[in-house]
Amino acid sequence: MKKQLTFLGIETSCDETAASIVRDNSSGIGEILSNVVSSQVDEHREFGGVVPEIAARAHVEKIDFIINKSLKESKTNINDIDGIAVTAGPGLIVCLTVGLSVAKTIAASLDKPLIAVNHLEGHALSPKLVKKVNFPYLLLLISGGHTQFLEVRGVNSYVRLGTTIDDAVGEAFDKTAKLLGIEFPGGPKIEEFAKKGNENYFKLPKPIINKGGCNLSFAGLKTAVLKISKKMKNEEEKYHLAASFQKTIEDILSEKSKFAMSLFKENYNNKKNTFVIAGGVASNNKIRKKLIDLSINNNFEPIFPPINLCSDNAAMIAWAGIERFKLGLSNKLDFPAKARWPLDEKAPFLKGAGIKL
Ligand code: KG4
Ligand code: ZN
Repeated sequence: MKKQLTFLGIETSCDETAASIVRDNSSGIGEILSNVVSSQVDEHREFGGVVPEIAARAHVEKIDFIINKSLKESKTNINDIDGIAVTAGPGLIVCLTVGLSVAKTIAASLDKPLIAVNHLEGHALSPKLVKKVNFPYLLLLISGGHTQFLEVRGVNSYVRLGTTIDDAVGEAFDKTAKLLGIEFPGGPKIEEFAKKGNENYFKLPKPIINKGGCNLSFAGLKTAVLKISKKMKNEEEKYHLAASFQKTIEDILSEKSKFAMSLFKENYNNKKNTFVIAGGVASNNKIRKKLIDLSINNNFEPIFPPINLCSDNAAMIAWAGIERFKLGLSNKLDFPAKARWPLDEKAPFLKGAGIKL
């Protein structure tokens, strides 16, 4: 096999059109030569969330330009690419199909391997783009579409320890923001509002906090926020509600992470364990701080991939493609887009797991 592999990654599973060129660095870390992401937040803002048809149309309009930009920025000729990695699921079918069709066309016309990547595997392996991280490690994925605890045993080898049984945590942030009159996506604004409020002002429920193992639930919390928001008397209370909501999420994530850590430690007798926290919500400073403290107290090294690699991007897809290709895993050109595609196929079906939106 060629010594250093260079892959084109393509990501169109939701509302980001992204392409990236990544090279396999001999030290086992991915070298990002370009990482181009075009977000559609503006297109979806007036609807308060992602509209699949609008997202798909925007992908169609932008994808060629974004791929060309990624090649140009990386100073790579498309003929020098060793393979094409593309997100094939989970996600919105109409969106996934855009990236997948383009990837298949490039692979067929250049006679290069196609690697169909699970978006969640992209997130799971993303810390390896910046740091040498040894398997196994514990992963908490907290984004707008996913909330899961995974035991990452190796490439293509995952055990789901827990998942949300209803909303994703980012979704809970966005819905709370909407109730407070904040534009989509509201997570970062909730963090700002929370700084001005009293986190103990409202007592909010922590659904299934003492049951369901590592599974999580946010629907009851959302209903409680809805009820309070209807009775709010002044602007001040908005800040208190944002602060109380954020504190409740911190507590839920911390409590469930503690439990996930204990399960992980039951399986492995490592001197030092690793806890990777990825996804857009991982950029919340209060949540970060809480999970860092928890990790230190439980003999885990916390790792947060940088924000641009935490949110949706194609560098993580290119890297997952390289890792899979090195294990001899590639796919035929008839590989389908999958709306639902859990990383751990053996885990029981639960709504909210392995499904985006
Ligand atoms: O990973 P991501 O960029 O996209 C996917 O959903 O795949 O995550 C976006 C989510 C949104 O729900 C957004 O509101 C949330 O992450 N988010 C935050 C913060 N920044 C982004 N939530 C809480 N605090 C933040 N600072
Ligand atoms: Zn994602």
